[in-house]
This record gives sequence, structure tokens and C-alpha cells, in this order.
Amino acid sequence: MPSVVVVGLQWGDEGKGKVTDYLASEAGLVVRYQGGNNAGHTVVVGDQEFKLHLVPSGILYPGKLCVLGNGVVINPGVLLKELAGLKERGVDVSGIRISDRAHVIMPYHPCLDQLDEASREVGKIGTTGRGIGPAYVDKYARYDAIRICDLIDPDIFKERITEIVRIKNMVIEKIYGKKGFDVAAIIDEYSRYAEEIRPMVTDTSVLVDRAIRNGEKVLFEGAQGTLLDIDHGTYPFVSSSSPSAGGACTGAGVGPTRIDKVVGIIKAYSTRVGEGPFPTELPEEQVSLLRDGRGREYGVTTGRPRRCGWFDGVIAEYSVRVNGVSDLAVMKLDVLDQIETLKICTGYRYRNSILKEFPASLKVLAECRPVYEEYSGWLKDTTGCREWSDLPQQAQDYLKRISELAGAPISMVSVGWKRDETITIQPIW
Ligand code: IMP
Repeated sequence: MPSVVVVGLQWGDEGKGKVTDYLASEAGLVVRYQGGNNAGHTVVVGDQEFKLHLVPSGILYPGKLCVLGNGVVINPGVLLKELAGLKERGVDVSGIRISDRAHVIMPYHPCLDQLDEASREVGKIGTTGRGIGPAYVDKYARYDAIRICDLIDPDIFKERITEIVRIKNMVIEKIYGKKGFDVAAIIDEYSRYAEEIRPMVTDTSVLVDRAIRNGEKVLFEGAQGTLLDIDHGTYPFVSSSSPSAGGACTGAGVGPTRIDKVVGIIKAYSTRVGEGPFPTELPEEQVSLLRDGRGREYGVTTGRPRRCGWFDGVIAEYSVRVNGVSDLAVMKLDVLDQIETLKICTGYRYRNSILKEFPASLKVLAECRPVYEEYSGWLKDTTGCREWSDLPQQAQDYLKRISELAGAPISMVSVGWKRDETITIQPIW
């Protein structure tokens, strides 16, 4: 039985929530392996819309085991609030399990994230301000991190947090000139969280391994996207985790031999939130073509308008390569329904040459100009299409070119927000 990684191939917001939800119906277990509540996944079930930040999208199937793996950074207050909100709407959240090795976002992490961004005159990243970067910095620096297993051990937690807050307050007070944190208040608040999450905490790597050995279908749900990956993204304008497929192994505690398929989620055009390079970005006066109407291109977490642009074949090829994508799911095709002329970027003009491979240097990227192919739009509503053959010829041609440039076959096409507004070309499971 296959284990499948769902990974974003652009800058996040590709529609991973919908695909995960779609595939989760058959999965025995759904695992998130990186990131934290910087993510925002929209899932539409019937006439209800759910916006999930930390909880895996599989939660919308009653009793489904949903794991937050060791690679996730967890803000327990946010998690408990999200679970309470879901419960209030009648969702069964009993299947949630939290890795004892996951790291905890403490109150000073969002504080430092925001102070750091605000203090920079140049080079702002445009983070979500949720403390993701500072939490991963503490994880890798090792001195000041709290893992879930430390949080739920009252003695260890008190001892560690007392020293950590002393150090953090030195930075907050002496460098930023702001008021520091009261350690007693943090101990009080987080000890309450610890008691609430304790029943959900376990060694989740064992759960994942057991599910795979039992022949269950396991779905690894990536957040953000490849171009926000700390190694493979448009560094430094990236997040601090490893959304790419390799991150599923380290972030869930499974070996690469256990992964059978990698489903790359890619929008039929491009979007990005926050700062950083975006070669095919549309100028502000044209952006509403994609942002408004059916596109609804506004951040789920921060509400920020997303930057929008044409499909970028250079990025598609790059992301398919670094993730080893076996299947593509092309999302939001319907957003293009009423556009007369569509463009696909097939290469970058850089000085006297045409680049086909995505460059590492932001200086080079800044000089790159997209080389476009133009396609006539189909000017027909595709939301009712359920088979490949239902799609207008122009839409089929557009999708074929995407697949050719990316170097991977298309298994799914999404033509709307709802679960059934999906064309399955090749079943993933
Ligand atoms: P951070 O993850 O909050 O540190 O933000 C770093 C960069 O990643 C910023 O440009 C954010 O806008 C972007 N980012 C983080 N999470 C998401 C997401 O889920 N979707 C899209 N962009 C994201």
C-alpha cells in the first residue's frame, strides 16, 4: 500500500489542503511534517469552509488519525484553539496525535519574529509573524529549545524555561528596548496547555511505521512550498523548514524507502505572499485578473493580498526535480476560464543566454526576464468538467504544455473549491 507525500511546487497556497482532503478519505493516517501555524489550508466540505493552520486536513474525516510530526513547530495555544473551534463545528478531533519530539513555539518566538522584521531597514522577509523562524533557530542552535516531551515534564519545563526566558529577556530588553516576559506567567499558561495536550502526545514515528507495516495508506501533508524551502527556496526569502519531499522523512521519522509517491501540487498560474523574487509576477494594474473573482488570492493566515503571475515552467521543472515528483495535481484551472490570452514561461533570458534551470543567486534572478509562450484562452466554464475529455481543447493544450515543461504526468486537475470539482486522470492511491 502506498505512502504518498503531498508537496507544494511553488511558494505555497497551491491548494494542498484540497488535495490532502481528497486523498485523506482513503488514508489510514495523515501526517504533517514541517512548518507550523504559518500555514493556512482551506478545505471546502459541502457548504462549509474550514481554514486549518496546524491541524492536518485529514481531520475532517471522522476518527482519522492525524499526526503532527517531529518536524513541526507547535504553538500549543493555537493548536488547542483550532481544535476547540473544529469541535464546536461538530468535527471529531479525537484522532490527533502530537510527536513528543516536536518543538514548541513559546511567546517570545512571535515577539522576536516581529521585532526582528520591524527593525530591518532592508531585506525584510515579510514573515507571517508567527514565530516560525525564531522557533527553528532555537531548535538548531540547541540551547534554548523546548520540545513537547520537555513541556509535559513539569520539572524539566520549569528548569529549562527559567533559564531560557532570562536569556531571551536580555535580547528583548537590551537589544530591542522592549519589556521582557514574565517567566511565572509563561509557566502558568504553558503548564495548562501541557495538561491539555498530554493525552495526544506520543512517539508518532512508531504510529507512522506501524501504519505502513499494516499496509495502510499514509499521507504526508506538506505545508508552504518548495520555493519557501530553507534549502531549495528563494533564500533568504523562504520559511525556516523543509517543505520539500525529503522533509517528510526527517519531519515524520520515516526512511526514504518507505515513500512510494510524491504528488506535486501546482497552480495553473503562480502566486506568492511576502517579499522575494517572482520572475513571472504581473504588474499591480493587471494583477486583479488572477487575484480577484474566482482566484480569491488572499492569504488564509494573514489576509494579505497575494502577488500573482503567469505559470513558470522553469520553476515547475526545478521543483519536480528536487522533490522527485511522480504525479502532478494542477490546481485552480477554472481561475483562467475567462482570460483571453494566457502566458507560460518556458525559460529566463539572462544577459545573452536563455536559462532553463532555476538559478540560486538572487542577483542573477533579478536580471532574468521570462520568455513566454502565448496560448489562447478557452473562455468557457470548466467547473462542471469531471473527465479530461470534458475540458475544452485549449485547456487540454495548456495542461499538456505544463506537464511537458515540468517533466511529470498530470494525475489530477482541480476546477473549483469543492471536493467534487476535480478531474482524476490517474488515481493516486
Ligand atoms: P514565515 O514562515 O512566517 O517565517 O514566513 C517566511 C515566508 O514564507 C514569508 O514570505 C511568508 O509569507 C511565507 N509563508 C509562510 N507560510 C506560508 C504559507 O503557508 N503560504 C504561503 N506563504 C507562506
